[in-house]
Amino acid sequence: MHDTEPQTAGGKMLWHFSMSLDGFVAGPDHEMDWMNRATAGRPGIVDEYVSTLGAVLGGREGWDFAADDQRPYGGLWEGPIFVLTHHPDDAKPADGVTFLNCDVAEAARIVLEAAAGKNVEVHSPTIGRQLLERGLIDEIDLHIVPVLLGQGRRLYDNPGGVPVHLHLVNSDDPTAEVNLRYRPV
Ligand SMILES: NC(=O)c1ccc[n+]([C@@H]2O[C@H](COP(=O)([O-])OP(=O)(O)OC[C@H]3O[C@@H](n4cnc5c(N)ncnc54)[C@H](OP(=O)(O)O)[C@@H]3O)[C@@H](O)[C@H]2O)c1
Repeated sequence: MHDTEPQTAGGKMLWHFSMSLDGFVAGPDHEMDWMNRATAGRPGIVDEYVSTLGAVLGGREGWDFAADDQRPYGGLWEGPIFVLTHHPDDAKPADGVTFLNCDVAEAARIVLEAAAGKNVEVHSPTIGRQLLERGLIDEIDLHIVPVLLGQGRRLYDNPGGVPVHLHLVNSDDPTAEVNLRYRPV
């Protein structure tokens, strides 16, 4: 199957998610079990992201709903996590997690510095949108899970906004459509 080139480290700000075919990254109550039936993409893909990841930036809701001591990549990755919140005082603390209450561009600067030349993964739809508006997202990196959810937390929710045009990475034609074909199970 045609796939994109492996991800590489390079101090990039990645908006990185597994996403349902209809554009949701979590269920309405932050459910994530819908991705359990999916198998990994290209060989070594988990190690690819674990080895290129320097720091994670997430939002407070995602943090509050994460199971206790749940870490990205099932604990295979050990690195700094930053959580943006307007009220860090009542956040449940954890080792390696820093709560930030600052402008999103300042948060991006802090997290990129902590990543020390590796990539930052943004694990929040709302923060990703804010960074995109500021021109601070380098890549939107998605793994499409073969499922339709019909409801939940959208990757990009911006009612009243204008279309954001994108270029396809790793393609001779950056404006090419991608053809995905699925059968209902
Ligand atoms: N599919 C995947 O691969 C994947 C991976 C990781 C996570 N997820 C899911 O992604 C979802 C993330 O949830 P979400 O996007 O709805 O919420 P979220 O972004 O995690 O949290 C939103 C909260 O972040 C804080 N925040 C956002 N922007 C801020 C700013 N500029 N300054 C200060 N605080 C700011 C605010 O918290 P305060 O109210 O405290 O101010 C806001 O209410 C979760 O369901 C998680 O499970 C999916």
